Amino acid sequence: MQNSSTLATLAPPAAPAEIRECPVGFRSDVVIDVRDGVLRLLSPIGGYALNGVAPAVVEALRDIVASGTALADGVEKLSDTEAGQLYTIAERAPKLAEFGILLGGRLLVKLEATARDAHYEKAAVPLDVRVKLSKFVLLRSHAGALVLESPLARHRVTLVAPAAGAAITALGGGCTGADLLGELPEAAVSSLLGHLVGAGFVETEAVDGGVNGFPSDTDPVLRQWDFHDLVTHSRARTGRFDQPFGGIFPFLGEIEPQPALKPVPTGPSIVLDRPELEDILAVDPSLTTVLEARTSVRDYGETPLSVAQIGEFLYRTARVRAVYGPSEATPYEASTRPYPCGGAAYELELYLTVRRCDGIEPGCYYYDPVGHRLVLVNEDPSDRQAMLHAASVATAMQANADILITMTARHQRLSWKYRSMAYSVSLKHAGVLYQTMYLVATAMGLAPCGLGSGDADLAARVLGLDYLTESSVGDFILGSRAVPQEGATARRLPENWRPVNDPQWGVQSQSTLFRRFRGPA
Ligand SMILES: Cc1cc2nc3c(=O)[nH]c(=O)nc-3n(C[C@H](O)[C@H](O)[C@H](O)COP(=O)(O)O)c2cc1C
Repeated sequence: MQNSSTLATLAPPAAPAEIRECPVGFRSDVVIDVRDGVLRLLSPIGGYALNGVAPAVVEALRDIVASGTALADGVEKLSDTEAGQLYTIAERAPKLAEFGILLGGRLLVKLEATARDAHYEKAAVPLDVRVKLSKFVLLRSHAGALVLESPLARHRVTLVAPAAGAAITALGGGCTGADLLGELPEAAVSSLLGHLVGAGFVETEAVDGGVNGFPSDTDPVLRQWDFHDLVTHSRARTGRFDQPFGGIFPFLGEIEPQPALKPVPTGPSIVLDRPELEDILAVDPSLTTVLEARTSVRDYGETPLSVAQIGEFLYRTARVRAVYGPSEATPYEASTRPYPCGGAAYELELYLTVRRCDGIEPGCYYYDPVGHRLVLVNEDPSDRQAMLHAASVATAMQANADILITMTARHQRLSWKYRSMAYSVSLKHAGVLYQTMYLVATAMGLAPCGLGSGDADLAARVLGLDYLTESSVGDFILGSRAVPQEGATARRLPENWRPVNDPQWGVQSQSTLFRRFRGPA
């Protein structure tokens, strides 16, 4: 933020319409350390060190940070020189301080940095230019106040005065600065818009350039970002956000972690066969054959999948191999399964909606990865059909799969450990499980296809889950595979492919697999 002014802050009381832009406080997460005469300030997004700071200034600083006292109140007991020193610290360490726009001595809004490289130039916004809140701005209650945040901005704005809220309401629909004059005097409108535009919360409309309109509506890159996708992106990784992040166990000692193994629902169950490793190794194709032959298949053989195939498939992809912990490094019970998982937390659960499978009645089942069995959770035909229909829709009605596998996440299993990134990590887990399923299905001669969309509300209702506790994050369809007759598979690439790097490896590998699945002539 620009234009902060120590002199203005220490100046006599402001006139009613006077605008001041200056430091008004310090972040509550600043850590203060004084050693060998050096004052060191540290926050998640920056630090600052200074020699020769008066003890009274350090004391006042500690008090301001601990109690959230406004800077103007915190300096009351200090001499003018000491107060000046504290304001200088705030100005020189802008990522540790809160800046305010004050109207007639009363705070209108506060701004604080949320990123290490937070910096902006205050914009000059003529009163007749149309302005609009960016479509990426979110408004929420945070730390006891109403704040604006945006994945396009490296600052947070706290709305303090009702007039600031009224201005934001008008900006939500788009207006000119002149339209805001009913709420605020001209100097306040210019200051507020200057900072909101400069920091990236408000857009100005282009009217005489090549492309007219607001950037969110006209910029090809911004147009293609969804609000929620960009918010998630900006918070699933570090860089633009100053809140606690990563595997920091925020609830350790407060809330019990979810168990490594979900309590198995009660219901009729089907115990599945456990395959023998030697039997699998005796017939498994090579890794390269499977990797290269893997493809998404959306049509199915005449013979349905069998319960033995489902047993082998689930055992090879998703069974629990062992459990371990808790330990000092991992203060929760963990498990090991065939696919990788962040923190070995294994929050994903599998549900099978069976349309057609030899040995399993149609219905919705939970896969118990310990007991290696399917437990019936819903036998209502219309619920089953709704689940299978949603899966078919995801394939543009190309597929009418034998089985839909719904992957759910027990969300608190991850969010007990990871702040800010837990949901995105679950999507990564769904991804690695997709590939594990693709490869095992290919090796077994089944028809696999991952899906990009699914109805989490429907799945929660049909599978009897609480949406906030466990809901679907992935969908995978599976069926028997129609193996082409000998000679029917021309060893050619699809006609519309333009070869780049050995695409025939895939064709050759598929031929190898088909020969194997047809067996000896
Ligand atoms: C995460 C993910 C989502 C997918 N979503 C769908 C989908 O919703 N519908 C569909 O028919 N195929 C879907 N697929 C399959 C892709 O269309 C397929 O992988 C892609 O066209 C490449 O073809 P290949 O798998 O045969 O190599 C998805 C695959 C993945 C990995």
